[in-house]
Amino acid sequence: MAPPHHGKAAADSGNDSTHRPISNILFIIAMQTEASPLVNKFELAEEPDSVFPKGVPWVRYSGKYKDVNINIVCPGKDTTLGVDCVGTVSASLLAYASIQALQPDLIINAGTAGGFKAKGASIGDVFLASDVAFHDRRIPIPVFDLYGVGCRKTFSTPNLAKELNLKVGKLSTGDSLDMCAEDEAAILANDATIKDMEGAAIAYVGHLLNVPVLFLKAVTDVVDGDKPTSEEFLQNLNAVTIALDLAATKVVDFINGKSCSEL
Ligand code: ADE
Repeated sequence: MAPPHHGKAAADSGNDSTHRPISNILFIIAMQTEASPLVNKFELAEEPDSVFPKGVPWVRYSGKYKDVNINIVCPGKDTTLGVDCVGTVSASLLAYASIQALQPDLIINAGTAGGFKAKGASIGDVFLASDVAFHDRRIPIPVFDLYGVGCRKTFSTPNLAKELNLKVGKLSTGDSLDMCAEDEAAILANDATIKDMEGAAIAYVGHLLNVPVLFLKAVTDVVDGDKPTSEEFLQNLNAVTIALDLAATKVVDFINGKSCSEL
């Protein structure tokens, strides 16, 4: 039997939660800069009485927007270095703990990504990921190789993609902002249009705990362009975040009053 909540199977699964209106959305956002405008837009408040273990840097904002309870969680700042805890390790832990504590109907992983112009991505584009996979988990042993890549279809949302006119593409995830030759080959094999540092890890947790996940990724840098990635990323981060948050708001407006099976 196909697993529920993945690809088209979720909408067809007959599971009750796929047919009742979505009332609880969890945003997982890696960087504070990406999250802040959305926190303001949805008028969310930081929750000091953390549902998370004592001492973790994870931050939660919550509130009600239209008919939905919204939580935005961020991995927060590294306790030693003070920078955002980007990457798959923090994202996985945060996703697991947040699902356990908040029991969301739907997760939205919103964030920035590198885009490939050869696959039609430009700065400021906002993509909905159709598939996710890893590009830095090389295990050259039969079957372990497939496990490492961890390719999976995302929760299918054809109505959302059409209504909001979002670009749709495959997302490849790794723990580096830059791209070595081995990663590049894997990204090509994954047929990815966009590249991030959290998506496939959050998809894995969603799959484990049977929660559908949408991936909304805004392009800050052109990976196959001429500019150094880190420079282009920092240069475009604030402007592109505005596009991301606008798209995220439209997504929530579209979701409001609908069930997962209507997306
Ligand atoms: N986030 C934004 N740009 C990125 C890139 N080039 N690689 C991974 N994550 C990113």
